[in-house]
Amino acid sequence: MKEETSTADKMLHLKLPTDPRWVDIASMHIKDILVDHAYCEQKAASSCISLIVGFPEKTELVDMLTAVVAEEWGHFERVLEMLKKRGYSLGPQRKDEYVLALVAFVIKGGSRDQRLVDQLLMNALIEARSCERFKLLWKNIQDEELSKFYYELMVSEAAHYVNFITLAKLYMPDDYVKRRWQEWLEEEARILKQLEIRKDRMH
Ligand SMILES: [Fe+2]
Ligand SMILES: [Fe+2]
Repeated sequence: MKEETSTADKMLHLKLPTDPRWVDIASMHIKDILVDHAYCEQKAASSCISLIVGFPEKTELVDMLTAVVAEEWGHFERVLEMLKKRGYSLGPQRKDEYVLALVAFVIKGGSRDQRLVDQLLMNALIEARSCERFKLLWKNIQDEELSKFYYELMVSEAAHYVNFITLAKLYMPDDYVKRRWQEWLEEEARILKQLEIRKDRMH
């Protein structure tokens, strides 16, 4: 288990592996996790829509992210279905401290393309962390249906991570993207370290 987690971290470049206690806590509070997860999918779709609307002249971005919106909305529907099957309803959205802290790190100045690349890297990072967490759920959760569901999401979010990195490299030079990506990775690790593990959060 440990070995596989570190392989995933290497693949995704994450600087801090998820606290191993998180998956046990999450498994015991699956309703809360599903509700938070549903909103993560909704926010992923919304974030892609905002990028499409904000950068309509970027054809590759519009094409790539239109497909991602459809997939994220499909994920949202599937999480809703999982909730319903278990007799739960969606419930209100919780404050997402993780994403709010990441948003605060997005550059304020710079060029339009630099700001776009920051948005893309932030999205890539959220995909990478979600992918790491879905892997933990897939490996550890007892419910077979949910375990298979998390496996499929892990694969899908890994592809989105690649989409966002690919787009970032299209709009700013490679060395810029690499340097900024390292800064994002360090910031994400710092944010995650400060957040408590909560029973009702994906992140
Ligand atoms: Fe998703
Ligand atoms: Fe995604």
